[in-house]
Amino acid sequence: MLTKVGIFFSNPGAKFSPASSASATHFQVSYGMSSRLIYNIRQLVNARMESHLLRGAELNSLPCIDNAWIFIEGDQIADFGPMSELPADLLDRITRSRQNAWGSGTGDTVIDAAGQFVLPAWCDSHTHLVFAGSREEEFVDKIRGLSYAEINARGGGILNSARKLGAASEDSLFNEAWKRLEELRRLGTGAIEIKSGYGLTVEGELKMLRVIKKLKERSSVSIKASFLGAHTYPSEYKDDHAGYIDKIINEMLPVIARERLADYIDVFCEKGFFDAAETETICRAGMSYGLKPKIHANQLNLSGGVQVGVKLGAISVDHLETMDEDTIAVLKNSNTIGTLLPTAAFFLRMPFQPARLLIDAGCAIALASDFNPGSSPSGNMNLVVAMSCIQMKMLPEEAINAATLNGAYAMELGDSLGSLTPGKRANLLFTRPIPSLAYLPYAFGSDLIDKVMIGGEFV
Ligand code: NIG
Ligand code: FE
Repeated sequence: MLTKVGIFFSNPGAKFSPASSASATHFQVSYGMSSRLIYNIRQLVNARMESHLLRGAELNSLPCIDNAWIFIEGDQIADFGPMSELPADLLDRITRSRQNAWGSGTGDTVIDAAGQFVLPAWCDSHTHLVFAGSREEEFVDKIRGLSYAEINARGGGILNSARKLGAASEDSLFNEAWKRLEELRRLGTGAIEIKSGYGLTVEGELKMLRVIKKLKERSSVSIKASFLGAHTYPSEYKDDHAGYIDKIINEMLPVIARERLADYIDVFCEKGFFDAAETETICRAGMSYGLKPKIHANQLNLSGGVQVGVKLGAISVDHLETMDEDTIAVLKNSNTIGTLLPTAAFFLRMPFQPARLLIDAGCAIALASDFNPGSSPSGNMNLVVAMSCIQMKMLPEEAINAATLNGAYAMELGDSLGSLTPGKRANLLFTRPIPSLAYLPYAFGSDLIDKVMIGGEFV
């Protein structure tokens, strides 16, 4: 529920900005964009005057303001505070909006968010959102007893998606991906990383990355692209791993770099896929074109991927279902983020990632959906947060920080997204009236998102 109580028109286009960055209460007027004042907010969540990547115990500290207001100017957060300290000029806006209720025109809006919690939109830092069709037939095979590795070994899994992708046109691929992205936007995702990796040929990988580029250009969601040519070996290179790696490095990467199609280089570092040495070679090649590594590591085995990632200064190492003490020690002594993907563990009936051990050791962790047709056919970050609390014993505060601020840092977007901070982009979630913040992961499966704002505009 969200009530727009009125629209006001004086000072059309007036621009307000904090008089001093330390104060949340004084505004100066200038001219330019439209603004939105949201008031009576039951609780403003993850509201910080500054932000940094959170590690270990810091994850449990989630700054919130009860009975709050937030002021949005254009596509950015201008300021916020408790209702008891609402500046007089903003109070005046509320009063006038009530008097002029429902005028017409394109004025600035004043919104009563009574009973609602307002959070930063989710930052989903690991997905495979671009894919063709689906793989529910393998899902049924798994119910009948086959393992994920067995399905891959008989030419299913990633290769199944690669065949489907090969047959799909760029337009149909874009349309499918666009629908998924729109669904996620309504579920509260405001930033997302998307990987290639179902092409496995020069044309196929370029097709996927061009679709991601088009999504970037057309969506209000902030998007980062990762090149994952090293997702698996195409069947014709089953016995010629060096040949495929050569193709990735010498045929795919130069074009991708020339067309600026990727921000990151990713490798599926896993037994039966790419080993640690191959992962390092491919990542170094990507790095020579300016692509920083974000690596699939330790999903099914202790693959050495975490060690390679840390050694190369990867932005993140992702999955981490299979960890031991040494690997946790390597991660905690690094600037690399550990990205946990609980819905993938859930869907594959694997042990969940050891979030408690990682947090208690002092690691910086993020949460992401891994949205893909094989191991996580859902990109719903509300479910990711709930599952992290239910199955990985993360506290709601930790899960929310990991799915917002640290997710933003895992896409190098921490300076502009992930928390409610003056100067950051206005990507906001409005919950339906709920009794407490913990109710969000507790009542998993309920649709508790009332409205989503991306870049100052309601979705
Ligand atoms: O992150 N594990 C590797 N890649 C994906 C799954 C890809 C697929 O099965 O299509 C993942 O889980
Ligand atoms: Fe993945």
